[in-house]
Amino acid sequence: MDAIDVITTKRDGGELSPDQIDWVVDAYTRGAVADEQMAALCMAVVWRGMTRAEVSRWTEAMLGSGERLDLPGLSRPTTDKHSTGGVGDTITLPLTPTVVACGAAVPQLSGRGLGHTGGTLDKLESIPGWRAELGTDEMRRALTDVGGVVCAAGAGLAPADRKLYALRDVTGTVESVPLIASSIMSKKLAEGTASLVLDVKVGSGAFMKDTAAARELARTMVDIGADHGVRTTALLTAMDTPLGHEVGNALEVAEAVRVLSGGGPHDMVELTVTLAREMLDAAGLGGAKDPADALRDGTAMDAWRRMVRAQGGDPDAPLPAAREKRDILVPATGRLTRLDAHAVGIAAWRLGAGRARKEDPVSHAAGVTLHAKPGDEVRAGRPLLTLYTDDPERLDPSAAALADGFEVDGPDASLPLVIDRIVP
Ligand code: URA
Ligand code: CA
Repeated sequence: MDAIDVITTKRDGGELSPDQIDWVVDAYTRGAVADEQMAALCMAVVWRGMTRAEVSRWTEAMLGSGERLDLPGLSRPTTDKHSTGGVGDTITLPLTPTVVACGAAVPQLSGRGLGHTGGTLDKLESIPGWRAELGTDEMRRALTDVGGVVCAAGAGLAPADRKLYALRDVTGTVESVPLIASSIMSKKLAEGTASLVLDVKVGSGAFMKDTAAARELARTMVDIGADHGVRTTALLTAMDTPLGHEVGNALEVAEAVRVLSGGGPHDMVELTVTLAREMLDAAGLGGAKDPADALRDGTAMDAWRRMVRAQGGDPDAPLPAAREKRDILVPATGRLTRLDAHAVGIAAWRLGAGRARKEDPVSHAAGVTLHAKPGDEVRAGRPLLTLYTDDPERLDPSAAALADGFEVDGPDASLPLVIDRIVP
């Protein structure tokens, strides 16, 4: 087999054969196909796309590049959720213990944040003592004893994707539905879950800015799941404004705990309950306990405390607090019609909540509190946002990111929280 044949087949709009796909993914992972050849192939895929058969086979080849966790012997059915990433998207934190409290096992392998969206592991690491790195045995034990685990994906899962994603990142080839879908699904399928719910975000703070592109990505991933025997459904959800009222690691943990206490902002509660019902249905537990009840009766909170303790964390320890803060004031009295997710994400990132390079540390205390959300009545001169940081030099650049980030009495273009549902 020859890399140039594979590249030119795709360049000219042809369909790659299963053998071509298996060979090129394996040869690239081994170093037998050069970076510039794989970059050319990815660019051809960006322009030409892939058929359903090609995407499924490509995903299978990436999955086959590494180990696949198997989780036999669990007494509960497994289900997992993946979000394509958004600003203030803390949902994994209240969702995982809620689904555990309703009877499923949740192996949630997560990542760290890069750019303006936060990573689940960075958020949880603001809890004193909490550890993200678990061995496979430790992870299995947590699933058996507690029912839920949120930990770092080991280097052994889909190594082809790690290498390919780094290449795509520097060659302008990230934005391709088949490449994104196969990248996400190879990692999720490697985790060994029996069912999967995808939260595909739409809007300024998301990877997919418009509904049509998000729907295509969701459909492609649902098809890949079905082709691999994993019951997969997807929701398209709004990311034109941040989720909840807090953006930043420790701020979001505190907000998740408010949801688990039966309070918290209504959009976070609604999305937690909606995704939890979807996960329980996918796991075949549709008739089990209702997630809204688990939030009300304290059982979701009990599961959260057990999960945090099982990974070395102290659920009662105070969270880190920032040394410096600044209020951004409401410019005019009226109805807040826009509070842009991307602008708030960049502001939080500049305060230190996110990283610019993957080896950078994050500040756990940094972030932004939203005192109002689109649709709320606001009064001139009252605080709209509060910025938190340990480094006062970060306040001006962060505030600058918000200059065009909100509007009072403008046109109302807000997306509904749940836009669509994609099923096999
Ligand atoms: N996230 C992934 O894991 N892969 C992509 O290709 C894009 C986003
Ligand atoms: Ca939030």
